[in-house]
Parts: sequence; structure tokens; C-alpha cells
Amino acid sequence: MKFVVSSDHAGYDLKMKVVDHLKSKGHEVIVEGAVSGTEPFSYVEAGQALVKDINDGKAERGIAICGTGIGISIVVNKFKGIRCGLCSNEYMARMLRQHNNGQVLAMGARVVGQALALGMVDAFIDEPFAGERHAQRVNDICAQEDELFK
Ligand code: RB5
Repeated sequence: MKFVVSSDHAGYDLKMKVVDHLKSKGHEVIVEGAVSGTEPFSYVEAGQALVKDINDGKAERGIAICGTGIGISIVVNKFKGIRCGLCSNEYMARMLRQHNNGQVLAMGARVVGQALALGMVDAFIDEPFAGERHAQRVNDICAQEDELFK
């Protein structure tokens, strides 16, 4: 699968762990956002770059990381057609796929440890969308977006 992983400075160290993890499992990875953990980098710019790669067809899924995960998840969810979930455990990451058909997993590097973060990434990769009644709800989100963005 093709991934884009993006972070601000607060998420930089965890981002690089996630990138290594994805590559070790054979995934293609584009890295966006901060290039170090010390120089301030806006989570807004990091989120925008991630969505651009998805919208340009360069990546199918995204992992978005900032200090809390809150700022970058807000940014990513402002884009039409993108469903991003801020998760803090593996169950949430699995449900983001199974119920919400989310394309972007957001997490907070100052909230979750590395082992939990990688566990969430694996859950997010492995879980399929359940469809059926959940498909109707996701379609309803899309219809709401069509109203808002017309
Ligand atoms: C950066 O200090 C911090 O504000 C950012 O990483 C994030 O937590 C914002 O939501």
C-alpha cells in the first residue's frame, strides 16, 4: 500500500519510527512535514501536504502526527472527501477503518508511546471497511460535504 506520513516538529521522532515500520512491512512511503524535531514546523502545513499527496493519487492512506494529534487531525478533516480519526488505542484505529472507512490515522506523539503507535498503525492497515449500514453513514457524510462545498 502507498502511504504518506506527515508531522510537525513534535511528531518528527515518532514519524520516522512509523516510516521505518511501514517500510519494513513492504509499504511505499512518502514523508512530508518536519525534517527535524527541533525546528518548529506548523501542523497546518504538515496536514495540508499529507492531503495533497492523497488527492494527487500519490498515496492511498495517511498517518498524521503532531504533539497531541488534535491540530493536524483538525486540518486534515477540513478537506472534502477525507476522513481522519484521532486515535489513542488500537480499537479506535481498527474502528476508524471498519466503521468510518477512514483514510488518515492521526495520533499524538506526546500522548502515545512508540509501541502503541505502531500497534495502531498495524490495526489501521489490517482492518477492512465493514460496509453495509456503515456505508450508508459514510455516504451521508459525503452528501453533507456536497452540500457544504457546492
Ligand atoms: C506543537 O507544540 C503543538 O501545538 C502541536 O504539535 C499540536 O499538539 C497541536 O495540536
